Amino acid sequence: VLDIRKLYGQTGMFTYDPGFTSTASCESSLTYIDGEEGILLHRGYPIGQLAEHSSFMEVSYLMLNGELPNSQELDEFSRTITRHTMLHEQLATFYRGFRRDAHPMAIMCGVVGALSAFYHDSTDISDPHHRKVSSHRLIAKMPTIAAMAYKYSVGQPFLYPDNSLSYTANFLRMTFGVPAEPYEVHPAVERAMDRIFILHADHEQNASTSTVRLAGSSGANPFACIAAGIACLWGPAHGGANEAALNMLREIGTPDRIKHYIERAKDKNDPFRLMGFGHRVYKNYDPRATVMQKTVREVFEALKVTDPVFETALQLEEIALNDDYFHEKKLFPNVDFYSGIILSAMGFPTTMFTALFALARTVGWVAQWNEMISDPGQKIGRPRQLYTGPTERDYIPIEKR
Ligand code: ACO
Repeated sequence: VLDIRKLYGQTGMFTYDPGFTSTASCESSLTYIDGEEGILLHRGYPIGQLAEHSSFMEVSYLMLNGELPNSQELDEFSRTITRHTMLHEQLATFYRGFRRDAHPMAIMCGVVGALSAFYHDSTDISDPHHRKVSSHRLIAKMPTIAAMAYKYSVGQPFLYPDNSLSYTANFLRMTFGVPAEPYEVHPAVERAMDRIFILHADHEQNASTSTVRLAGSSGANPFACIAAGIACLWGPAHGGANEAALNMLREIGTPDRIKHYIERAKDKNDPFRLMGFGHRVYKNYDPRATVMQKTVREVFEALKVTDPVFETALQLEEIALNDDYFHEKKLFPNVDFYSGIILSAMGFPTTMFTALFALARTVGWVAQWNEMISDPGQKIGRPRQLYTGPTERDYIPIEKR
């Protein structure tokens, strides 16, 4: 029998908290979530208000600096980000090493990790100027990196950033534009894309953000830390859920098949879960899903398109919310439930969905990383464990086993 006191020391408290359901890993002044009430605030501002009135550049400034910028500060910040949108030319060679059918997230893990090999003049984390430059570089280069991953997958030439455009319009042009042909960014699509970026900008200590913080706590450079965050985000229980949710909705196909999938989600012998439903923190409607649902309608109207999958999603939501199982377990649509429908209407393949999430979440990761590095009480992250293996025993020579 293991003596816990002997293993973990006589003093202090030892907690065993798988999945960290009730353990705060840090102090943070960035994002507040009230999961019971369905409230999300960034630096105190409700997500609904930011999505309605702000822009992704403004929210990025807010997350990094703590306050909303005035017009001059916003112009300056946007210009600074614009200065860093280009990617080192040699990185294009790096892309060409991947298979064409590689998942964009696989490419992004590699390319973002490789940034430290190209921008090592901003990797001294003890220098605030280096931290600032690397933060700006990451936010600025992610649209270029994501767009290049897309272009590579469809076999089209890469497009250089056009810095006369906004952050979001520039991304859309690099993704959907073709060299030597004019590309008009639809204002409603630009607005919707920008709003989707705002909705994904940060979400306190979720799995990928905790990964970034844990990687950063060892003193690893910011590019390596963000690459770690991208790897974690990719999982279907986290950022990969937007891709999985749309695939699920397409598989359901028509509203008459919804009930069958609801029954499957409730069956404990079936690993199937309703993707885009449920959340570790929200035990109420995810406020981001509310905005996302509204944005679907706006995009459909602007592009004069529709998608039967939206009707399936609306009916699925209604049936699930009136079902005892989902009611008792407080499972509501999360940010990923509707986002895929919009992204698909905009022309993105499902494999790009999580890449777009990573692009936007980079702001949160970078802000959280900066907050952690600037914290004088910061320590290397080092969770303990509850050891369940054998107690000490003598080595047995192989011939006696
Ligand atoms: N469908 C069916 N049942 C579900 C679902 C779901 N989507 N989500 C949770 N449950 C059930 C679980 O089976 C469990 O039931 P039990 O108490 O009978 O064992 C109970 O609800 C609690 O679920 P947990 O997995 O313990 O909750 P946890 O907080 O660990 O997981 C998670 C949260 C991972 C988001 C989960 O709800 C899930 O897998 N959802 C689907 C994937 C998804 O949409 N992820 C995106 C999250 S948002 C984001 O990352 C951006």
